[in-house]
Amino acid sequence: MPLTLLDPETEFTSAPLPGAALHELLAAARRQPGLASVRLLGQPALLVTRFQELKDFMADELAFPGGAVYQYQVEPAVGRTFISMDGDEHLQTRQLAMPAFRSGPVSRFIDDQLVPLAHEVLDRFAAKGEGDLVAELTAVLPFWAISRKLGLPVGSEERQRAVTRALLAHLADPEGARRAADTVDAIVRPVMEQCRHTPQDDVLSHLMAAEHQGLRLDDEGVLSHVRLLYAVGATTTSDAMSNLFRLLLERPELLARARHEPDLRPRLVGEALRFEPPVAVLPRLAPHGGRIGDTEVAPGSLLLAALAGGNRDPEVFADPDRFDPDRSERELLSFGFGPKFCPGWNLARSQLLAALEVVLERLPGLRLVGGPPPQGAILRAVPELHVAWDVG
Ligand code: HEM
Repeated sequence: MPLTLLDPETEFTSAPLPGAALHELLAAARRQPGLASVRLLGQPALLVTRFQELKDFMADELAFPGGAVYQYQVEPAVGRTFISMDGDEHLQTRQLAMPAFRSGPVSRFIDDQLVPLAHEVLDRFAAKGEGDLVAELTAVLPFWAISRKLGLPVGSEERQRAVTRALLAHLADPEGARRAADTVDAIVRPVMEQCRHTPQDDVLSHLMAAEHQGLRLDDEGVLSHVRLLYAVGATTTSDAMSNLFRLLLERPELLARARHEPDLRPRLVGEALRFEPPVAVLPRLAPHGGRIGDTEVAPGSLLLAALAGGNRDPEVFADPDRFDPDRSERELLSFGFGPKFCPGWNLARSQLLAALEVVLERLPGLRLVGGPPPQGAILRAVPELHVAWDVG
């Protein structure tokens, strides 16, 4: 078969690449020698698609520091947080900020708060018998959940979605991002005053009290980290939840098995994260250049880590385009790798599992009516998911 190189003008920002289209493109890039050239926001970028090269590259903090891209993308609106740091500063600030995301506190949160919250969301629509599962559930629950986890009041999910989107869109709309940061501050500051007098078991109180090797966050540091977690904690989980339900509804036999096999449910969540990760492609800068596989990367290059490509590398995953919750390979790249490995992975996976369990319990006979497959080449989600279920 003649080798067709990927078109170097392929623009990743706007390409919808629904369903198999993204995965075919990434497979074509993986087959060609070296790194494929594409574009991001009109700029030339190199696409990394092989599992082992992705791991080596994301672990190599000296050549490819993960914080650099977030200094442009996130820091101007969110403030100085560990996402835009590297090296020791990153490690120490991350350890200071994230203890509330370890498995013990997350399990407590899921049982005590998230499951009741999921029932509250289901109460709003379970009697209808049909609806859009994205609008009713997956675009609601993760937004309510992150507010609760942070210790903030649960407000309107539409407003929270808009604020989150604006906070992360600093490059496209700096003024909108600044306004979104002010909106979050107006929610957080009064709660901070309450926590100063009466600390709670939530992230805000933990951040205010946290101390690691003599390091503490001042008020601006606390605010910045709350803005960060508010912005990144819900969107990715919401997108992953929409992909999970879409993939299962396309496979009614697996949904039926999930009803009777509780042990299958975490494996369905894991396989959905492998098959359609919500962060399909992750941008990185290479300020000093470096080497990825056989390719010498020039200083200042823009790189795209195709996590969705690594998750389907046939060198690692047998029959990678098959959705198979019984597969034995367990390692995924969906939460990244190396020093910036997602600290929210446990909360995210637990939320996906809790949502699946509550849906299985509350929506008998759930079936797909229609809607498009997952789409988006950077962030990937299902925009709508029309379903029906049995009532009465
Ligand atoms: C399914 C849901 C999620 C996915 C797929 C996901 C994916 C990722 C990925 C791929 C990275 C690595 C970024 C990089 O290397 O530059 C990352 C980092 C991060 N994630 Fe997540 N994430 C999810 C949920 C969450 C949640 C629930 C939170 C917090 C509440 C969170 C907070 C963060 C933070 C703060 C970082 C930066 C880590 C650092 O700089 O050390 N994520 N996430």
